[in-house]
Parts: sequence; C-alpha cells; structure tokens
Amino acid sequence: MILQSLEAVNFRNYAHLSLTLSPYITILVGQNAQGKTNILESILMLSLAKSHRAGRDSEMIRWGEEFASVTGQVVRQQRTYELNLKILNRGKKVRVNQIEKRRISDFIGHLNVVLFAPEDLQLVKGAPQTRRKFLDVELGQINPQYLHNLVQYQRVLQQRNNLLKDAESLDSRLSEMLSVWDDQLVEYGSRIVTKRVEFVHKLQMHAAEIHRQITSEKESLELSYQCVLLENGRSLEAVKEYFRQQLVARRKEDFRRGITSTGPHRDDIEVQIDSKNVQVYGSQGQQRTAALSMKLAEIELIRQEVGEYPVLLLDDVLSELDEMRQLHLLESMGQKVQTLITTTMTYGLDEMMREKAVVYRVSQGTIEKM
Ligand SMILES: Nc1ncnc2c1ncn2[C@@H]1O[C@H](COP(=O)(O)OP(=O)(O)OP(=O)(O)O)[C@@H](O)[C@H]1O
Ligand SMILES: [Mg+2]
Repeated sequence: MILQSLEAVNFRNYAHLSLTLSPYITILVGQNAQGKTNILESILMLSLAKSHRAGRDSEMIRWGEEFASVTGQVVRQQRTYELNLKILNRGKKVRVNQIEKRRISDFIGHLNVVLFAPEDLQLVKGAPQTRRKFLDVELGQINPQYLHNLVQYQRVLQQRNNLLKDAESLDSRLSEMLSVWDDQLVEYGSRIVTKRVEFVHKLQMHAAEIHRQITSEKESLELSYQCVLLENGRSLEAVKEYFRQQLVARRKEDFRRGITSTGPHRDDIEVQIDSKNVQVYGSQGQQRTAALSMKLAEIELIRQEVGEYPVLLLDDVLSELDEMRQLHLLESMGQKVQTLITTTMTYGLDEMMREKAVVYRVSQGTIEKM
C-alpha cells in the first residue's frame, strides 16, 4: 500500500505540514529536535490511532492550540482512502473518506505501518521480557485467538501465584487447589507455546534472509525460541504433557518461592549471528542490524496476512550502520516497500537520492524539498 500524501495541522511543532511522499523512499533530514520523528508519529497515528511515545494523546496538540489534525491519502488494492484523525483535549475523532467512525477499530487497519525506532534496539539488548512482549504484540495482531489464550493464561498464572504466596503449608488441600489451576495453565500455556514456535520459525526465515541482504551475505542470523517445555517434542500434546509433568515436579519449589517457575512466561528468543549470541558478543552495529532484521521480517508477515506490504518507517536507523549496510537496507526495502527514513546526516545522501529517493529538509517545524 502507498501513503501518497500527508497533511497535519497543529501537530506537535507543526502549525501546518503538507508532504507528498515518494512511492519508494522519502528521506527526512534535519538536526536534532526539528520535527523528524514528529512526522513519523503522525503517520503512526493514522495507522494505529496511538502513538509509540506519547503518554497522552493531548501531548501531540501543538502548544497553546485546541486541537491537532492529521490527514493522509492511502492507496491499497487499487482504492484510495482518505484517513483523518483529530485530537482534541478530550478524546479523538476519526474519519474514513470523510465519514466519521464511532469505533476506533473501524479506523485502524486501513493503513498498515511498521516502525523501527531507536528504542527497538532493546529487542536484542534488552531483557527476555522485551522479546516476549514483541512476540505477544505481533502474534496478537494477526491472531486474535492467541490474544485470548494469553489473557486467560495471565489471569490463571496470577491466581496460582496468589495462592502460592498466601499458603502456609503444602498440604493436600493446597495440592488439590493447585491441580485445578494447573489444568488451566497447561491448557492455555501450551497453545501459546505452540503458536510461538510456529511464529518464530516464520520470523526466522524472513529475518535471516533480510539480514543476509543487509550484510552483503557476510553474516548469518539465527533466531531460536527458547522454551523448556519443548523437551519432549513440539506438538501440542507433547507440550501439554511435559508442562503438566513439570508443574507437579516443581510444586515444592514453587511453594517455597511463592511463584510459578515454569511456563511460557519464562520463555525467550535467542538471537545469534554466526552461531554466537549477539546479546553477549555482538557489536553495537550488529545488534542494531539484528533488531532491524527482526522488525523488517514483520513486513513479510504482514504482507502474508493482508496481501500488501505495509509502509515502513525507519527512525534514525542509519547512524549506527556502515555505508554498505545503509545502502543494502535501502536497496532491499526501497524497491518493494514504501519507506520513510529520518536522518541527521547529510553526507551519503547523494548516492541514495540517485536511487529514486525524495529528500526533505526538516527545520523547526517546517519542511522544504531538496
Ligand atoms: N505539543 C507540542 N507542541 C509544540 N512543539 C512540540 C510539541 N511536542 C514536541 N514538540 C517539539 O518537537 C521537538 C521534537 O521533535 P522530534 O522529536 O520530531 O525531533 P527530531 O527531529 O526527531 O529530533 P532527533 O534528531 O533528536 O530525534 C521538541 O524539541 C519539541 O520542542
Ligand atoms: Mg527523532
């Protein structure tokens, strides 16, 4: 799909913004604090009606103003949609083709975007929790049943943990009550595990291919889902059986510690380059490239789901990539995926511009075509 144009009024530091985008690559160049990320944020609002960084929607209203408005023309499956979002001090209003939608859910989904922001580096560097969250958000988006199982699992886990914390002795009464929770934990948890196995497998295939391209075939990326419950096999039945076994075997330990020590809430994705753990051994640039490849793999997964590529927003990714990686990144994406990229660097742009890029200079809430 293609975002053809973007218009914003009173959005962050823009009094009025009007931008025509290239169907290939659009580069926003400018010094710090000029309003580059603000433009990407406004596009994200058209996609998700939610910002990746604002705590409250009203933060996006230009200081001293009453409202903010963002409008975009999107072409998908040969049809054009005008999306409009208005943020007021209390609440927001959304329109598709000038018709107001009462439910935000009727607005979301017209424009799909994948955003890579500096904080996504945590996908590789951060704690396992960050990677589990990534799995849950991405899988939840394309699989509502997964989301349901996840919510149920977390509810049961919480209740089981409360029971363990409050109990005074591990007597037969407690064992009986735990068994009831264990049944549900196994039921929901095993489904989560098998879906994650499948998802990481697909993600790995795309991420490895993208990583190979960006590094000119010099590095090989490998993602593997780390879960102790896969000991006896990957089928739903095998996971269920082993999970149940583990819960019983660890019951004493769980009681002593007052927590549930096994289950998908302990899982992780291991990220390796050339068979070495990137978190431990990777350079800054390798970590960034690995995180980027994981995010870019999402693009292919979204295409499989919705039949078209999403719009790719790359916020400040160039700075830690060497020139080769930058070029390969833009080459591999810019051909097939509409890409918007922000950067503070002006050097190297000549080369990229020759590759069909449209470049805008961003300065204090104004833009100028270069
Ligand atoms: N509600 C608002 N009203 C007016 N200006 C705002 C508002 N919110 C943020 N700003 C301004 O926008 C600026 C930040 O813009 P943005 O984050 O897009 O910068 P950037 O060009 O991406 O910079 P960097 O290169 O540092 O990431 C801030 O310095 C702030 O002054
Ligand atoms: Mg920025």
